[in-house]
Amino acid sequence: MSKNILILPGDGIGPEIVAEAVKVLNALKDRFGLDVSMDEGLVGGAAYDAKGHPLPQETLDMAKACDAILLGAVGGYKWESLDISVRPEKGLLGLRSELALFANLRPAILYPQLADASSLKPEIVAGLDIMIVRELTGGIYFGQPRGIRELENGEKQGFNTLVYAESEIERIVRVAGDIARKRNSRVCSVDKANVLECTELWREVAIRTMEKDYADIELSHMYVDNAAMQLVKWPKQFDVMVTTNMFGDILSDCAAMLTGSIGMLPSASLDANSKGMYEPIHGSAPDIAGKGVANPLATILSAAMMLRYTLDQDEMADKIEAAVNKVLDDGLRTPDIMSEGMQEVGTAAMGDAVVAAL
Ligand code: IPM
Ligand code: MG
Repeated sequence: MSKNILILPGDGIGPEIVAEAVKVLNALKDRFGLDVSMDEGLVGGAAYDAKGHPLPQETLDMAKACDAILLGAVGGYKWESLDISVRPEKGLLGLRSELALFANLRPAILYPQLADASSLKPEIVAGLDIMIVRELTGGIYFGQPRGIRELENGEKQGFNTLVYAESEIERIVRVAGDIARKRNSRVCSVDKANVLECTELWREVAIRTMEKDYADIELSHMYVDNAAMQLVKWPKQFDVMVTTNMFGDILSDCAAMLTGSIGMLPSASLDANSKGMYEPIHGSAPDIAGKGVANPLATILSAAMMLRYTLDQDEMADKIEAAVNKVLDDGLRTPDIMSEGMQEVGTAAMGDAVVAAL
């Protein structure tokens, strides 16, 4: 049965990079019979400009009805002074929470062809392959109460709430356990249990869940500050990391940069039935938007992840990943991953090369 993909280009470099992923999907349709249809919707600043809201009702309706979502990026200087309730980021956060996409998978893989792009020594990062499993619909991002209030002395006070129920912790720990089973059977749960009660509970539930149903998985625990340090010091000690929404936000940027290019890394946000939203890990990069130089590979690889995790099309995903490897082997590089002796290309040329390599 034909599957429907909702394409949400968003802002900044979003439309440019998503266009290349769509090219790749169309090539799979034309040449290999991939049976999907695609619709496009507005989200983020683009949606705010057109409809007055970063997540218009019609986009939300389409997102609920489709089988999978491919998103570019949201946000930009233009919308930074808007009220927080209608900032582009709210479009993304709204999609995550409305669709209950609680499991965010952020792999950090070092492509051997790009070993030089990392700021760490090659021996520290060679062969790096980590999966960060970030809780995405709870924690301090969504906890109530929140806001900015005025104290009796007239001073303002900002406040947010870190909350996790046992069920929220258990389901994300299970996702990490399931993924670890397909990898190297190790999960490191990251918390701040020495200071925050909420993550003391996190640790307790992680232990309980793993002892009960994942006895074959080796579970370890690390405080988030140490985890940040260990990621930079000796990243290969990790297999799967599982953590809260905000810690995952921070650690996944750190892990991504170990690989030298955040422009290479895809991500998946899944609900309990593996319906998902797929997007590059990087943001909308307004500084290079419209220049045709953004790296489309993270978005193209996000499309591959979508084919694998939500659309059950492993073979098509393999084809995309092999094609990306081929263009890297051939020496093609966008400016973010450029190194001496390689051939520098722009966004569209990179997309075309992947299509040609399929
Ligand atoms: C991410 C981004 C988002 C987040 C922003 C754009 C709201 O940084 O996906 O990591 O903080 O989750
Ligand atoms: Mg982030």
